[in-house]
Amino acid sequence: MRLLVTGGAGFIGSNFVLLTARERPDVQITVLDALTYAGDRSSLAPVAGSVELVEGDITDAALVDRLVGESDLVVHFAAESHNDNSLRDPSPFVQTNLIGTFTLLEAVRKHEVRFHHISTDEVYGDLELDDPAKFTADTPYNPSSPYSSTKAGSDLLVRAWARSFGVQATISNCSNNYGPYQHIEKFIPRQITNLIDGVRPRLYGAGENVRDWIHVDDHNSGVWAIIDRGRIGETYLIGADGEKNNLEVVQALLTAFGRPEDDFDHVTDRAGHDLRYAIDASKLRDELGWEPRYTDFAAGLEATVDWYRANEAWWRPAKAATEAKYSAAGH
Ligand code: NAD
Ligand code: DAU
Repeated sequence: MRLLVTGGAGFIGSNFVLLTARERPDVQITVLDALTYAGDRSSLAPVAGSVELVEGDITDAALVDRLVGESDLVVHFAAESHNDNSLRDPSPFVQTNLIGTFTLLEAVRKHEVRFHHISTDEVYGDLELDDPAKFTADTPYNPSSPYSSTKAGSDLLVRAWARSFGVQATISNCSNNYGPYQHIEKFIPRQITNLIDGVRPRLYGAGENVRDWIHVDDHNSGVWAIIDRGRIGETYLIGADGEKNNLEVVQALLTAFGRPEDDFDHVTDRAGHDLRYAIDASKLRDELGWEPRYTDFAAGLEATVDWYRANEAWWRPAKAATEAKYSAAGH
């Protein structure tokens, strides 16, 4: 099988490529990635000899047409992915998440190639803290930020291309991922790398916002379950019942570093900050027999701390510029 992975030099995409190379040696993998600030060639170093990395943009219709024409399956991770960046400058989000997805859809339509679209639970908006409800594939779309609204738009394009043009597509909407190779702008690696530097973690607002954490390898095993056994045209939610508020996560990290639980700073909250995400993944579990493997969050977090300690050369070059952006925004 010839697999094209867009965004395969980013956090989840690179972990997907590494997992696939490990577990499915017969799959021939090509990565298409623009190597933006979030993409890193070195994340694919372990498979450099066997995976082709094409540096290019998913909005480049001629390049996308050629690469899709040479593939049997496209898994589409490439996106602008960070909410805080989308509040500063939404323009690349519209370009990559909407125009880029449109460009890919036109190519898979023309070449009749199977397409799996990676999306987020943020398309559903947020839940109240005391609401027993969780998101399902039937929850109405209600995105809050420029990031989540462009992801919602990209999902709707995929649904329309599946229905109107018969594109062989599936969609997954996953909750917050953690694990190795995550950019240090994101919450968990930002605090880990702060703690390595002896800097206090930064909590937006009161820290009561809840995220539903899942290990990146569990997300990616869910993606393969959908590719292998999912029904064409369907949407599956991926989540591992990992709800935690941000204060709890910061306290777990402080404990892992042997620091007092109140050794952090409250900083300016995010505009429009979604309160709570929670995934009901029973469709994926019951229909496709998927199960998460990394159900011990504390153990997963400690392994992630170890990874950032051991791979300082990977993240250090981005640290000062990332923190400068946050300082300018009061975060
Ligand atoms: P990331 O920002 O770490 O990686 C994105 C990758 O896409 C980078 O390698 C970047 O260079 C590449 N890219 C960006 N614009 C491009 C363009 N125009 N052309 C080609 N490549 C481009 O993101 P991530 O956290 O790995 O997220 C991957 C996907 O998963 C996204 O679609 C995101 O919406 C979705 N998702 C993320 C999470 C999460 O917790 N991080 C959860 C659910 C869904
Ligand atoms: O739910 C899935 C989404 O999860 C993905 O679609 C996004 O691509 C991914 O970035 C993530 O979005 P969040 O906005 O939830 O993740 P982030 O890591 O930016 O923040 C997680 C929570 O932590 C959020 O409530 C904001 C808070 N936060 C973040 C940072 C960077 C802090 O309290 N302090 C911080 O320094």
